[in-house]
Amino acid sequence: MSEQRFFRFLQARIGLDVDSVGVPMVQRALRQRCVATGAVDLDDYWLYLQQSADEQQALIEAVIVPETWFFRYPESFSALVGLAHKRLAELAGARPLRLLSLPCSTGEEPYSLAMALLDSGMPAQAFRIDGMDVSPSSVAKAEQAIYGRNAFRGSELAFRDRHFDPVENGHRLHDRVRQQVCLQVGNVLDPALASRDGLYDFVFCRNLLIYFDTSTQQRVFEVLKRLAHAQGVLFIGPAEGSLLARLGMRPLGIAQAFAYTRQVDERATGTPVPTAVPQRPAPMPPAVRPMRSAPGLARPIAPPASSPQPAESAEQLLASITRQANAGDNAQARASCQRYLQTFPPNAQVYYWLGLLSDTEGDAAQALGLYRKALYLEPQHTEALVHLATLLAAQGDEAGARRLHERVARIGRESER
Ligand SMILES: C[S@@+](CC[C@H](N)C(=O)[O-])C[C@H]1O[C@@H](n2cnc3c(N)ncnc32)[C@H](O)[C@@H]1O
Repeated sequence: MSEQRFFRFLQARIGLDVDSVGVPMVQRALRQRCVATGAVDLDDYWLYLQQSADEQQALIEAVIVPETWFFRYPESFSALVGLAHKRLAELAGARPLRLLSLPCSTGEEPYSLAMALLDSGMPAQAFRIDGMDVSPSSVAKAEQAIYGRNAFRGSELAFRDRHFDPVENGHRLHDRVRQQVCLQVGNVLDPALASRDGLYDFVFCRNLLIYFDTSTQQRVFEVLKRLAHAQGVLFIGPAEGSLLARLGMRPLGIAQAFAYTRQVDERATGTPVPTAVPQRPAPMPPAVRPMRSAPGLARPIAPPASSPQPAESAEQLLASITRQANAGDNAQARASCQRYLQTFPPNAQVYYWLGLLSDTEGDAAQALGLYRKALYLEPQHTEALVHLATLLAAQGDEAGARRLHERVARIGRESER
């Protein structure tokens, strides 16, 4: 198939697993680039792509997903503040703290880190943040540091008054915050990153690995683990935890923070713990574990007996679940899923979300059951297949995981046809 070479190019250059963003999205990008370059067909465009580094970059820009906003997963920033003060005290003035945001996209993540630390009273000279992304246009926007409405989501926006000035086309970040962040174009797959091994106290790599296939994820996790200092902490996205446990990282157990460190014994004794035994994230302690069901929430929202129509449509409720889960608000997302199942017929996507919530909270057994329910309802539910495969692999069932991956590949081929 003539598109396959483009898919392989994107896989090799930025790790993109085309199935993760959907083949139609990449096909759209190819059509766009053909029109922009005047190529008569894909063969013509392929020839041009081989000769032009600028065009290679343009194709990458056309397929990346730059979606981000300030203080995405707010709990991770509160967790960082506590951990950063502790680490700074351990360093006892030997050097400033070093943080990495990779990928930083248009800058919201590294600037949020800077604002959180400055607001916590940490002096500017006590920390330094590197932000890196493969997209030059995203890094250029980050350098400009002017942000529109989409960058500010949720209701906690007091930080905007503290750290931004309104300008004609949005809000401009204060120089005091900008100066804390050093931005750079860079690729997480670049072997030159090895020169920074052990450099960072805190590494943020969120919402990148979901676009990679399992072997690239594994490779990148190794890179991230090495970039972090032995006492360092790695923050990832809510859906990205399963593989880390296999690499000898353990969740810190801070609700909704998605923060991992090396094995506890390694931190305490300096002796690495063997990582051959697959490990699942430890469950969070009950005190910080999000509520499984929120009775106070579920009851009033259930449709009143006299009302023939539900208060929200199924689509609205599904959109809320997606938003809440993506924002790391597990308790709300779970309550919305339960409300959905009380109100509407069983739905694969809802069981998938419930599975993912259990997965991110370290409850592998429950996650397995929920992913399987999703697949019972919709055997071709790709995300459920992929996450179930990751769970099986983490439990040592490589053959089971491989079968599921083959199923995903078959679905991809069928939808292409
Ligand atoms: C969805 S954004 C995530 C931004 C931020 N970390 C967050 O969670 O809000 C994904 C970013 O990954 C970047 N990216 C994709 N492949 C990359 C690679 N191989 N190396 C570095 N950045 C990459 C894209 O350019 C895009 O800006």
